Amino acid sequence: MADLLKVTDITAGYGDGPAILQDTHLNVEPGKVHCIIGPNGAGKSTLLKAICGMLTIRKGDVVFKGERLNGLRPDQILRKGICFVPQERALFPKMTVRENLRMGGYIMEDKAKLERRIESVMERFPILKERAEQHAGTMSGGQQQTLAMARTMILKPDIVMLDEPSLGLAPKIVKEMFEIMKMMAADGITILLVEQNALMGLKHADWGVVLDLGRTFIEGPAKEVLGDPRIQELYLGGKRAA
Ligand SMILES: Nc1ncnc2c1ncn2[C@@H]1O[C@H](COP(=O)(O)OP(=O)(O)OP(=O)(O)O)[C@@H](O)[C@H]1O
Ligand SMILES: [Mg+2]
Repeated sequence: MADLLKVTDITAGYGDGPAILQDTHLNVEPGKVHCIIGPNGAGKSTLLKAICGMLTIRKGDVVFKGERLNGLRPDQILRKGICFVPQERALFPKMTVRENLRMGGYIMEDKAKLERRIESVMERFPILKERAEQHAGTMSGGQQQTLAMARTMILKPDIVMLDEPSLGLAPKIVKEMFEIMKMMAADGITILLVEQNALMGLKHADWGVVLDLGRTFIEGPAKEVLGDPRIQELYLGGKRAA
């Protein structure tokens, strides 16, 4: 299948600092769940930031639907259909759930359409409808993560990139997050997920990518990555057991 997003041998870092990503590559196929794993500091978050235009790409290409994204601003990349939920979720804690959903569609010019989208997202996530007027910052961690994920659906993006959505959540809630991801994928949204829990992430993904020291170390069908002896040793059997 043709790649929806193709990252070819990119080098990127923060400001004038050292290169964090070095010849990193990634192929993203439409409609699939892709899971990026790797040790702390491997460059997982940096890769997502480079794709969404938050970092300057020094070398290599990011190509989305055949178009080069290098040099575009984050808002331009968002308009093209790539939505990013950072590790810290980036909700507006003092705004209500409804207002947060509205912010998710700030680039939409048709405000009536935006309100219809908000209503339809609330239909999909009853907890958000129930809590529509509650300040986001007063909700539980799981509810906030649900809001952060649901908010991306306002724009009906092609790709949603999620940086460690399970961080700090109880196992039961983490399961719910994976259910939401599956629902998004069934809706035709391609998922690019960074997950600390390698076993959990790969089990729910179609495609697995292992980053180490800013390089793509292993890439393949999630089941194969899960069965790779190097992964078993690094994450699943050893000290970093998931
Ligand atoms: N804003 C920044 N300025 C300078 N260096 C940074 C910045 N953010 C991250 N780095 C560096 O980039 C490298 C990769 O960090 P990154 O956050 O991408 O790792 P990660 O794989 O997401 O790790 P984790 O699993 O801990 O989230 C690290 O050496 C980190 O110190
Ligand atoms: Mg990170």
